[in-house]
Amino acid sequence: MTKENSQEETCTLDIISHSSAQTQRLGVRLGNLLHGGELILLDGQLGTGKTTFTQGLAQGLGISETVNSPTFTLLKEYQGRIRVGQAPTSGLALYHFDIYRLDDPEEIVDLGFEDYFYGSGVSVVEWAEKAGHFWPAERLRIHMKMLNETKRGLLFVATGAHYCDILRQFQKNAYVTVSS
Ligand SMILES: Nc1ncnc2c1ncn2[C@@H]1O[C@H](COP(=O)(O)OP(=O)(O)OP(=O)(O)O)[C@@H](O)[C@H]1O
Ligand SMILES: [Mg+2]
Repeated sequence: MTKENSQEETCTLDIISHSSAQTQRLGVRLGNLLHGGELILLDGQLGTGKTTFTQGLAQGLGISETVNSPTFTLLKEYQGRIRVGQAPTSGLALYHFDIYRLDDPEEIVDLGFEDYFYGSGVSVVEWAEKAGHFWPAERLRIHMKMLNETKRGLLFVATGAHYCDILRQFQKNAYVTVSS
């Protein structure tokens, strides 16, 4: 993990996943650490594991529903675990975006998606690179790369103190759970 001397604290973590099950477990581990209000950007070509990772993340948020790729809907919403200290009806929501089909980044604004990114739920965006530099400065970005049929490279880039804390916690947990 590295820390750069820029205005916004940036931390990175490089992980290799050897199976879709492992990618899913990484998602679970991250989901377990989220409090709500986080923005997770997923970059990577077709079939690199963005949805697979999101399925794990949903599980980590306590969502029992099956998470599929929302390609044809742009956004799917799920209700997760109840947040401590919140009213019983207030679950931790997951907003799962897939903006692959978005032609113009401006549409994000037109569709009112921005409200979600600054809201109290967890937003996960597949194909975030489609919207260029639109994104808030503070977020966790995960670049997923296909290394071979079953091997994927995951580069986590956290920007901002909150996301760096999450990534540090994530790395700690990673060392106690030996990867397969
Ligand atoms: N290490 C791995 N991590 C994740 N997926 C893997 C891995 N090895 C093989 N796979 C397979 O790669 C595919 C990943 O599909 P997935 O839908 O998660 O990708 P995606 O990035 O969301 O694609 P799309 O851009 O079409 O939305 C699955 O069929 C999965 O079983
Ligand atoms: Mg997908």
